[in-house]
Amino acid sequence: MRKVLPVLALALACSSTRGAAPAAALPTHATPEQDARADQLLTGPDWYRHAVVYEAYVRSMSDTNGDGIGDLPGLTSKLDYLKTLGVDAIWLMPIMPTPFKDSGYDIADYRAINPDYGDMAAFEAFLAAAHAKKIRVLVDLVLNHTSDQHAWFKDSRASKTSAHADWYVWSDTPSRADIGCGTYGPQFGEQAWTLEPARNQYYFHRFYPQQPDLNYRNPAVVKETLDTAKFWLDKGVDGFRCDVIGLLVESATGCDMIPETLDYIRQLRGVLDRYPDRAMVAESKITSVTPYFGSGKDMFHMAFDFPYGYFWGLAFNGGSRKIAFDALSTAATGYPPGAQDASLIGSHDVQRAWTIARGVAWKYRRAAEISMFTKATPFVYYGEELGLRAGSGVVVDTRDSARTPMAWTRAPGHGFTTSPKPWLDFGEAADETNVEIEDADPSSMLTFYRQLLAFRRGHAVWGTGDLVMLDVDNPALLAFVRKNAEEAYLVVVSLSEDPQEGSVAATEVMRAGELVWGNAALTVAGASARLTVPGAGSAVFKVR
Ligand code: GLC
Ligand code: CA
Repeated sequence: MRKVLPVLALALACSSTRGAAPAAALPTHATPEQDARADQLLTGPDWYRHAVVYEAYVRSMSDTNGDGIGDLPGLTSKLDYLKTLGVDAIWLMPIMPTPFKDSGYDIADYRAINPDYGDMAAFEAFLAAAHAKKIRVLVDLVLNHTSDQHAWFKDSRASKTSAHADWYVWSDTPSRADIGCGTYGPQFGEQAWTLEPARNQYYFHRFYPQQPDLNYRNPAVVKETLDTAKFWLDKGVDGFRCDVIGLLVESATGCDMIPETLDYIRQLRGVLDRYPDRAMVAESKITSVTPYFGSGKDMFHMAFDFPYGYFWGLAFNGGSRKIAFDALSTAATGYPPGAQDASLIGSHDVQRAWTIARGVAWKYRRAAEISMFTKATPFVYYGEELGLRAGSGVVVDTRDSARTPMAWTRAPGHGFTTSPKPWLDFGEAADETNVEIEDADPSSMLTFYRQLLAFRRGHAVWGTGDLVMLDVDNPALLAFVRKNAEEAYLVVVSLSEDPQEGSVAATEVMRAGELVWGNAALTVAGASARLTVPGAGSAVFKVR
């Protein structure tokens, strides 16, 4: 591939019929017209297809009582920040009482609030404040297992005849013929069965031994957990993020999305459908997302696109487009009508995007653009908008590197806490990577995220428009078209730091359009369209 100097690429951009150089600085806020249109799109049952969702770890957002632990009043105080960023909904990682063996994914009471974070009144105040700003709230529903400190398990483990004796999965030996699976991963140990001396029996756990699996073959468990969902819906939450939902029921031949689990998910969806405008997103399998959607109407509204979200680093670090191309193609064609992808480049379970991008800002930005421009509801993991760096402290396990407190200011405590000891140390470089500094820097990651979200806002095409993958003849370029009845865009993202050129067959929407994001040139000659992209570059052209 011939190298094109950036200045030449720019000249090409200017000489192209309609590929003018982009405006120096794109707006960081949507126009009132965009906001009005966004309000319409975000009203009614389809709201989640047009939303941008922010994954918040309450513990690491903002501490208002000086104990070093973020809390619900703290998050409430940051709603204006989130609104200004362009967030329409917040997913709260677990907020329920917990012995904290798995960062709250070990729940001791499904109907109360972790006292570290506040009480039910603080939650209700948060919910009301979010709703007043037209921000929806999804809570994490962790149904596969409880904490071993949950009252049900305490009772279950006490004796074979207790009221909850059959609420968990028990065996006389550390195995069972009808359960053909072990722990979920090495993180959680090697042994999925732990001895309970009081019963002289073993209980089953896919995760840590402090997270016993509930027995979903017991109708009482099914009823109680569906009632838990009702409890939160009655409080007014807008839906759920469902933790490892595929693992609910086990069998001899499979433990992931077996027919009994699908039945349960349909029942859960039935519960949601009794309330207006609720939605749920599945923590889907890393390899296969489609089963979570069912018919498109009877299971999940959304499922995470982990094939892109957890593997984008391979595309950028190995130069292989295939991984991203295939993930997006499935989203384009492989899902039932009504299914909505949830795109992401980070979460509490993987390394910070900054680490995955190996500290290379352009890779991070290009990866985020793919997530924002593909056909999906984008999820932004807290701190991602700052390019938050990894931390080195460990309280629970190594995943804590991506769960460090938000850095709001440069000052000691970084505006997160007045305590000299935050619950977990800040990530690296928090005196540079914080809201205060980045707010004032037109080239910061925060400014970039604001521009991205402002750019998408109020355009239905990004959430629901068709996605057409383009087979560019240069594998360093990923390109696709997004279109609906109103408008169409061509998106091109480079996976390379060198200038790149490539051609695609020109289709109806491929006429050289106006450059509205980034920098590249698009020229159309006959049946072929040519893209000229500066090193590490990307662009969006409005082609209709
Ligand atoms: C999900 C959560 C993860 C947790 C596990 C067990 O994968 O995202 O953080 O450890 O479930 O609940
Ligand atoms: Ca299970």
